[in-house]
Amino acid sequence: MTFLGVLGFLVALTIFIIVVSGMITSGEPSDEVVALQNANITERIAPVGQVVTDPSMLKVAAASEEDDRSAEEIVGGLCAGCHTGGVLGAPKSGDKAAWQPRLNERGVDGLIASVVNGRGQMAAKAGDPSLSEDQIAASVKLMLKNAGLGQ
Ligand code: HEC
Repeated sequence: MTFLGVLGFLVALTIFIIVVSGMITSGEPSDEVVALQNANITERIAPVGQVVTDPSMLKVAAASEEDDRSAEEIVGGLCAGCHTGGVLGAPKSGDKAAWQPRLNERGVDGLIASVVNGRGQMAAKAGDPSLSEDQIAASVKLMLKNAGLGQ
């Protein structure tokens, strides 16, 4: 073989390898693949939380957390925790003698205010700030009714 022949063979081999490698690798990723990769990256580097500074947004967030528990559910759940057994000196549920003097002294509105603001060992809103004042008022009235002091 001549020197030119060898050279020609190597050039042909190089071109052949370039063509074959072009066939077996897909080259540039398609738009779909790029979009998917970008979406994945955006997801991975997304912030974990968001700080909301717009007051109107805060109101929306607070409103959506409002619960709609009925007085029965609140009294039977939260309030019963202390008032059923008289924990920490709480007036016992259904114990008219325990409730009567408190009612005489402060009236229904005064008792409601005691729960809203807290009294003695009972924290404000009985420790559940998500309760609305309406829910507390309804719960106090239900407790009074359960003690035979309903009106
Ligand atoms: C952590 C225990 C605890 C929970 C829970 C609790 N209470 Fe009380 N509650 C007390 C104690 C203790 C007192 C007595 C406070 C005092 O007069 O020193 C009390 C007193 C009261 C009084 C009388 C207040 C007054 O002015 O004499 C009312 C009314 C009342 N609770 C309603 C509720 C309602 C309604 C709930 C549920 C929403 C509730 N409590 C949940 C512990 C609790």
